[in-house]
Amino acid sequence: MTMKTQNELKKAVAHAALDYVSPGTVIGIGTGSTVNFFIDALAGRFGKGFSGAVSSSEATRARLEGHGIRVLDLNEVSSLSVYIDGADEITPDLCMIKGGGGALTREKIIAAVAKKFVCIADASKLAPRLGCFPLPLEVLPMARKHVERELARLGGAASLRGNFVTDNGNLILDVRDLQITNPRELETRLNQIAGIVCNGLFALRGADVLLLGEEDGVSVRTPQESA
Ligand code: 5RP
Repeated sequence: MTMKTQNELKKAVAHAALDYVSPGTVIGIGTGSTVNFFIDALAGRFGKGFSGAVSSSEATRARLEGHGIRVLDLNEVSSLSVYIDGADEITPDLCMIKGGGGALTREKIIAAVAKKFVCIADASKLAPRLGCFPLPLEVLPMARKHVERELARLGGAASLRGNFVTDNGNLILDVRDLQITNPRELETRLNQIAGIVCNGLFALRGADVLLLGEEDGVSVRTPQESA
């Protein structure tokens, strides 16, 4: 039996996410390779006539516009029916690490506005606990060293993502060695460090639905209570 490739699993969840899209509404769209499959599927299903989307990055904007899909500024809309995005890691209670693509700040803002967050991910992203994937932080350039020291106090080793500037003109620090036993608590703590624009923990506002691409198909998961 041939195993499905990771891209095949990503494509499968991208297509499954179309069921959460109503053509007359404006939706939020994340960033990354899984989302790129979703954008292509969205264009294939609804064409240029799709009502419109709010984008979490310039890369996503370019792909949407390339398909002729209207991109709206978040300030032009008062609500979003759904936000579709990938994740770098996701737990059974649908807390996530995001920001592998460096778009975490706009992703978190759009997720805050959306009524429903649908995470699309291949099976490799599901983890019993967060932290194997280094935690991305978007940081103001002048605060870089201060943030590195503050993270060291929490047991984390922060390294600067090379040759990378976010769409907001900031830096990304990737942090290893954090013990993420309580993601909501750590997200709150990181929110209090001056100079961190946004941290990649999406736990206070996690996903509402996970579409997980597995060998035998796409499973639909909702948050499970953590033990
Ligand atoms: C970008 C993200 C992405 O959702 C995350 O990195 C997953 O990407 P991919 O779909 O390429 O695996 O958070 O900032």
